[in-house]
Amino acid sequence: MITWMKVLIVVGARPNFVKVAPLFKAIREFNAVHECWGPGIRPVLVHTGQHYDEPMSGGFFAHLDLPVPEVSLSVGSGTHAEQTAEIMRRFEPVLVAEQAEALVVVGDVNSTLACALVAAKLPRPARPLIAHVEAGLRSFDRSMPEEINRTLTDSVSDLLFVTEESAIDNLRREGIDPGRVHFVGNTMIDSLLAWEPRADRSSALTRYKLQPGGYALLTLHRGANVDERENFIEILEGLQELAELCPILFPLHPRTQRRIAQLALECYFTDSKLPNHEQSSTRAYGGDIRTTGPLSYLDFIHLMKNARLVVTDSGGVQEETTALGIPCVTVRDNTERPVTTTLGTNVLAGTRRAAIRESIRGQLACPRRGRIPA
Ligand code: UD1
Repeated sequence: MITWMKVLIVVGARPNFVKVAPLFKAIREFNAVHECWGPGIRPVLVHTGQHYDEPMSGGFFAHLDLPVPEVSLSVGSGTHAEQTAEIMRRFEPVLVAEQAEALVVVGDVNSTLACALVAAKLPRPARPLIAHVEAGLRSFDRSMPEEINRTLTDSVSDLLFVTEESAIDNLRREGIDPGRVHFVGNTMIDSLLAWEPRADRSSALTRYKLQPGGYALLTLHRGANVDERENFIEILEGLQELAELCPILFPLHPRTQRRIAQLALECYFTDSKLPNHEQSSTRAYGGDIRTTGPLSYLDFIHLMKNARLVVTDSGGVQEETTALGIPCVTVRDNTERPVTTTLGTNVLAGTRRAAIRESIRGQLACPRRGRIPA
């Protein structure tokens, strides 16, 4: 008879969905091989509801062949403290009731830390083994909420699955037992490679009237970049030359969309889909930055793969562009994924306009070829 090991797998935000999809595939394969004699793995998908809009959440489940979550905590948005506390409050009874042998958390979002903390504080024998996928990444920038989430999650996890060599060094420096650290590769890139053939069939280029290699793709969602008018404008001004050279497609995170309206920045964009675009009389500059809503996973891969350049403040996009061999400019002062700059196609531009322009010029004149980290 098969004995089942119950494993709770937690997701909350958009990149989490992409990172857990290969785990479900691996579990299905494992169970198929062990069908006759066991033990099998019984995964229970828990969605905290940190991301909840259809294009930020539901749409990803269908594309990634993920099961419908068995548990939905529906926490929604809030301050960091509110969101983290609410996830903990709602997750604790679930964890107690499920009596799982293991808990898997991924990445560095508030859901990751909240659920790991709940598990770590459960008394034994209820406390499950805690596994952190994408452990050990460090930007060394304590002002980033994600850096706090990563560091604390690692410190309470039993198994640390790392994606790049720098993570092994970071964890060693923090005194974490090397026996708990396992270099397993990058599940976000496993997803990218698995779904790339389907993404190749996307019609996004036609829909957005773009030519392969004839446009840039832009994503910005970090509070540090979009919450203050001055910071956001600094980046938009840094993009001016690029926008005058080729169209820039800018899929908007809901927070970024709201900020554009609140900060009255519509004048930087060419399209009229933004709510107050009609009222913004003068254009800030002559370049072409077109906004759209959040994209589906397959459309986004297609648009990254065909872009001349990607400009981003996302962690995952730095890795995906490296895997696809597309030059990337990251508008941050640091990265927790240094391998994308040492081996990959990524350059760190910082967040000041002159430095952003300089990095973009460099990538256009002499694109970083990079190689895929082993
Ligand atoms: C979160 C992660 C970040 C990750 C990003 C991926 C944390 C601390 N940050 O940032 O590391 O890179 O997800 O996208 O966990 N909102 C909506 N609809 C949604 C989700 C969010 O409108 O479905 C809006 C809300 O106004 C919310 C804001 O976006 O307050 C920010 O969402 P939140 O989940 O707090 O952080 P992200 O910026 O998405």
